[in-house]
Amino acid sequence: MPTLPLSNRASLVGPPEFSLLKFLLRNSDSYELVPKKKIQEETEFNPTQLEYYLAKLLKLKLIYHEKNLGYDAYKITFSGIDVISIKKLYESRILKSLSTIIGEGKESEVYAGYDFDDNKIVVKFHRIGRTSYKSLRRVNKDPYGRKSWVRLSIENAEAEYKALTCMWKNGARVPRPIGLGVNAIAMELIDGVQLSEKPELGDPEKVLDEIISTIKIAYTCCKIIHGDLSPYNIMVTNDIPYIIDWPQSSRASEETLYRDLSHIISFFEKEYEIVREIPQILSYIRG
Ligand SMILES: Nc1ncnc2c1ncn2[C@@H]1O[C@H](COP(=O)(O)OP(=O)(O)O)[C@@H](O)[C@H]1O
Ligand SMILES: [Mg+2]
Repeated sequence: MPTLPLSNRASLVGPPEFSLLKFLLRNSDSYELVPKKKIQEETEFNPTQLEYYLAKLLKLKLIYHEKNLGYDAYKITFSGIDVISIKKLYESRILKSLSTIIGEGKESEVYAGYDFDDNKIVVKFHRIGRTSYKSLRRVNKDPYGRKSWVRLSIENAEAEYKALTCMWKNGARVPRPIGLGVNAIAMELIDGVQLSEKPELGDPEKVLDEIISTIKIAYTCCKIIHGDLSPYNIMVTNDIPYIIDWPQSSRASEETLYRDLSHIISFFEKEYEIVREIPQILSYIRG
């Protein structure tokens, strides 16, 4: 069976399956795989019901079934966590419906969606370790230490939401954060193009100044450094640059700030012939 789009899968999950998914998520910190016996003991379902709901979640690929342990065990998949996020955002009246995928990175999937006033918004799902997940399971080793990929994805979503909230409150040019699911954040849709596409700018000096001022707000007000700043993480609309993609932001080393800045400065020099001195900008940002 081809995999259904995420939005369809979310709508096929009723309240009992939803509570089962949440049970598996709650137990994902303590159990790599949750024994079926534990699920049976700690949920309200009788064996027939449990069998039915597990089969349904499996078919929707929202859970994974391990049969090679000598006993049955299950774990929630990334799509399973995504569905919990969608339902949470729906319950808090943030997301009415999810639409199509608009961006896919190494550790995230970005979707368009609609809020309850039918405005288009963006939902970014964090999926840490997704690409290496299969091989991880094979060697049964966690390169991040003791934290699970589920925990890391949730923490990244929380970190990005917190960063966006602080930045937005302090007047930085970032998408307005709207809500937090489990591993997902809802935010304003920036209807523009990535700076990496080298759009024609009316006033490139002003665009660069706006970017620098957002970096300054991050540094001085929110005590963070983006850490992955590049023309790919800047969206431009009507000559206004919005910096996106903040999950890895941290109070990292000054080297990170220097690297972030130099990516942008050299891009503007090459593409828009604007020459700026990094040391001066650095002292402006720190000042
Ligand atoms: N708020 C937004 N508005 C419009 N497009 C967005 C928004 N956030 C992300 N995107 C799109 O999704 C892509 C990936 O998002 P990003 O936050 O950069 O995650 P990744 O870690 O995958 O790079 C972006 O390059 C952009 O095209
Ligand atoms: Mg990005």
